[in-house]
Amino acid sequence: MTDTPDTPPEKPKSHGRLKVQLAAQPRDLMEEPRVVKGAWTAKIITLFPEAFPGILGLSLTGKALDFGLWQLQTLDLRTFGDGKHRNVDDTPAGGGAGMVLRADVVHRALRMAALNTPPDRARWPIVYLSPRGKPFDQATARRFAGCEGLTMLCGRFEGVDQRVLDHWGIEEISLGDFVLTGGELPAQAVIDATVRLIPGVLGNHASTEDESFSDGLLEHPQYTRPAVWEGREIPSVLTSGNHAVVAKWRRAEAEALTADRRPDLWAAHQAGKGVKR
Ligand SMILES: C[S@@+](CC[C@H](N)C(=O)[O-])C[C@H]1O[C@@H](n2cnc3c(N)ncnc32)[C@H](O)[C@@H]1O
Repeated sequence: MTDTPDTPPEKPKSHGRLKVQLAAQPRDLMEEPRVVKGAWTAKIITLFPEAFPGILGLSLTGKALDFGLWQLQTLDLRTFGDGKHRNVDDTPAGGGAGMVLRADVVHRALRMAALNTPPDRARWPIVYLSPRGKPFDQATARRFAGCEGLTMLCGRFEGVDQRVLDHWGIEEISLGDFVLTGGELPAQAVIDATVRLIPGVLGNHASTEDESFSDGLLEHPQYTRPAVWEGREIPSVLTSGNHAVVAKWRRAEAEALTADRRPDLWAAHQAGKGVKR
């Protein structure tokens, strides 16, 4: 990318360890937010920065954010808008209902987000959350977790002018075959699925190796105490203490569930393509 950044109308907001550092050193507030060295970073372009970190600020992802295992920067799209009212959208060319986010406005935000990031999309993808995108899956979460960070554009209204998506070589990712009002919830889902794969975030890394999709199958059913609940017992094999028999039972359950609920995954698994999805 050869574009040079514009002077931003407002600083992006950072969450996690970086926020603490800025508060401790007020002079840094005058400088560009920096990427904490080595920390996986999500940069979010949104009309609703107050929606972040949202659920990501809680529990394990929240603790990992505080510890600096990953970080989050929000860029308020409104601040890149035009005129006194900071307009960000306009009517669709060719007519029709709704509004479309303008290419020039989104471009300014993307240039700001591009600061301190590598231009190589394999190292730092730029994603537009969109119902017409490629379905998000565990393989994509693994790919994103292996990158240095991710810039995510949250759409609103009827979406984004196609020209800015083409200009930046933006990858479109869908959360599923339904339409939400904005890209903020899908962005949080993508970040959650991604950062939990970063070593140290879950505490017990092994738990990501033995769950749904890790080997192309859905996970086996889980049980815990009490041993009998409402007349229903835990399958006796799970209390046998025989680890080999337990592993065999779990595998058989996982295969049966996958064949029943996800014929697509089952077919891929049987064809040998389901490994390490
Ligand atoms: C109302 S939707 C726009 C829908 C668009 N006019 C269409 O028919 O494809 C507004 C924004 O919500 C986000 N969005 C909605 N559904 C989504 C999904 N299934 N996956 C990812 N993002 C979604 C996108 O960022 C989109 O630009």
